[in-house]
Amino acid sequence: MRALIHWLSGPVEPRSFPYSPVLNEFHRVGKHFVEKSFLALLDSARQAVASQAPGSSDAAHRLLTDFLDVALDKWDGRYDYCSYLALRLLRLHCGPDDPTPAGEAEAGRQARDRLLVRLVADTLAFELAAAAQTTALLPLQRPGPAVVAKRCRLGVRAVAPALGRLGVVGAVRAGAPTTAAAGLHTASHDLEFPGDPPLRLSMLPVHVTHDEYLFIRVLQGYECLFAGIAAELRAAVTALAGDTPTAAADRLGYAGDLLGTAGPLFSLLATMQPESFRTFRQYTEGASAIQSRSYKLVESLCRTPEPDRLDSVAYQSVPDVQARVRRGQPTIDETYRAAVSDGRLTGADAVLVARRMLAFADVLTQWRRTHLRVAVRMLGSRSGTGYTEGTPYLSSVSATPVFTAVGTDRAAAGRHGRRSA
Ligand code: HEM
Repeated sequence: MRALIHWLSGPVEPRSFPYSPVLNEFHRVGKHFVEKSFLALLDSARQAVASQAPGSSDAAHRLLTDFLDVALDKWDGRYDYCSYLALRLLRLHCGPDDPTPAGEAEAGRQARDRLLVRLVADTLAFELAAAAQTTALLPLQRPGPAVVAKRCRLGVRAVAPALGRLGVVGAVRAGAPTTAAAGLHTASHDLEFPGDPPLRLSMLPVHVTHDEYLFIRVLQGYECLFAGIAAELRAAVTALAGDTPTAAADRLGYAGDLLGTAGPLFSLLATMQPESFRTFRQYTEGASAIQSRSYKLVESLCRTPEPDRLDSVAYQSVPDVQARVRRGQPTIDETYRAAVSDGRLTGADAVLVARRMLAFADVLTQWRRTHLRVAVRMLGSRSGTGYTEGTPYLSSVSATPVFTAVGTDRAAAGRHGRRSA
């Protein structure tokens, strides 16, 4: 409190904002329980920052604005999935006004791979620190050594494909899972570039239960993946609509690999202790991944949702994606159909693209099934935090066809649809 009062008493200088003491206060009790008087001070800080035109300290100004946006979401009454996960701070899409990532596809791919690795490495580092009792952060319901080792093993496996793509796979030595996780953490420091968001600011749990750290980081990791998949699918649509429709096969293949090889991330989340989840989720009402913009972009770029789904809570929760679809956002399904019927995509090329579509559909359907399984385990028959009845909703949408222009035969996708096809 004192550091914040001191900062407020001087000229507004985003660079010298007392992030650490503020984070400590949030971590001591959990975001849901931070004192109103402390939040009022933060609100004053926000007004001071807003009144200052961003100048030479532009990046620092933006960082502080984004941080206060996350810290004050409950105070403002606009707490949601995006603010819970600090997605804007992580430069992941939150709404229509977010900047479209500039630069080439390869740069975007690498930036997301680096972020994914850093997020997972950070959560494993927290597990190791808690096990070694070198951190007092989130002290409730700490897991035992066997669970910590399992988390390390699954976390390292989940990021191995990204490490491979980044060309740093040798940085993580084989050995005991905890040793590999420590190596991953060390290697992840080299993946941080100047200007990258500091991860510590993106961790504001609502409560003080240990497993909420894992929950937040896994969700952030999936957001990173879905953002990447949406970018690949958008490029696939462009390719199918243009003169080089076969290029869509690579994009679809890359998208499928991103999601398919990240499977251990869900296994990692499945190690969460259900009673811990039920403890902290009492304070996450209103923040649900049904508000995930990237996921709905992925779904709606594959195929235009049926009218009843588009009008339902599924898309009401992501209004700008709903609006895009209503404006006629082109999809893979329809551009593939058009490319085939126009004769731009024929013979073996058409078969290859269809196989990649099937393979992607297979991977996404698998993801939905795994999600449903984990949700049933953690939630039982409780309702969701996104105002659905919970797992019955997930069950009803899990078999929705990803595409209709090609068959949805899983076995066929398994036989022919792998990237090597
Ligand atoms: C403890 C683990 C989880 C549980 C219990 C859970 C539960 C649920 C529930 C009940 C819903 C329905 C909406 C609602 O009322 O909230 C939902 C939707 C959703 N969840 Fe999860 N979830 C979990 C983990 C995850 C993870 C790790 C992701 C990855 C981003 C994720 C992504 C989604 C998405 C994208 C939806 C929207 C699906 C749609 O509208 O078709 N969930 N989840």
